Amino acid sequence: MSAAIFAMPGNETLASELAALTGVELGVLEHRKFPDGETYLRFGTEVRNRTSLLACSLHNPNVKVLPLLLAAAALRDLSAATVGLVAPYLAYMRQDRRFKDGEAVTSSSFARLLSSAFNWIATIDPHLHRLASPGEIYTIPVLVGHAAPLLADYLRRRPVPSFLVGPDAESEQWVSAVASAAHLPHVTLQKDRRGDRDVSISFPSLTRFTGMAPILVDDIVSSGRTMEMAVKHLVGRGFRKPICLAVHGILAEDARDRLVVAGAEIVTTNTVPGPMAKLNINPLLAELIRPQLLKGTKP
Ligand code: R5P
Repeated sequence: MSAAIFAMPGNETLASELAALTGVELGVLEHRKFPDGETYLRFGTEVRNRTSLLACSLHNPNVKVLPLLLAAAALRDLSAATVGLVAPYLAYMRQDRRFKDGEAVTSSSFARLLSSAFNWIATIDPHLHRLASPGEIYTIPVLVGHAAPLLADYLRRRPVPSFLVGPDAESEQWVSAVASAAHLPHVTLQKDRRGDRDVSISFPSLTRFTGMAPILVDDIVSSGRTMEMAVKHLVGRGFRKPICLAVHGILAEDARDRLVVAGAEIVTTNTVPGPMAKLNINPLLAELIRPQLLKGTKP
């Protein structure tokens, strides 16, 4: 029996596009809140002995995770053969160390939680800074796709001579991959983060890029402070309007407005849906999950 994919709330486009791209059935998942705020779920499509997938990008994760875990548990109760999670954005990857005594290392505990609920996860560019791979914290296979070719393809279609800027040391892995695929020069800056919304960036001389268009490349734009600092600096040095190019456009709170006011254009993939999500990652996700769809054996 073929696989079925179900959309968690807000992930309907993701699930239907993946169903169309892979040929799996788009399943029916009824969901609502009881008056007391608890979650009601009902699978309206047969899942017994079927590979079952839940589509749920995990930005703003706290409201999504309990319903997601309940849905995964229901699929097991209903005898699904395997339960996979397609999470284009994988949350809780950044607190990967105890920086201060007593802090929760949430990347590890979140990984344990998801590993106990799913057989596998497919995601795009998880934030790997101090970790070399998700396998260091996840005990299930995590299939990772990379958005660099998609970002590079977008840049190749722009006729303007450009240079890429990675705003901090962590961004080097993304900016160098995009730069090499797009055949563009790049520079990586040094960032000092003092708080969630408090960053400073040191800039080297950029005179060798005079006359070229700056493209800031990072994996995540969250509060937008990192990009905002870099945009202000570039604009202040007389460069033309920078593009902020990112894989995951979380754009929390007023990040989008602040970046626009600072003088930037924002372009992201649709791992997090929104008006700036102009690059479609779903064909890559479809390729990533295809091999899993053929595996129907009960674990
Ligand atoms: C940092 O480690 C990431 O690569 C991003 O630079 C960071 O997550 C951006 O955060 P924010 O938008 O809050 O400055």
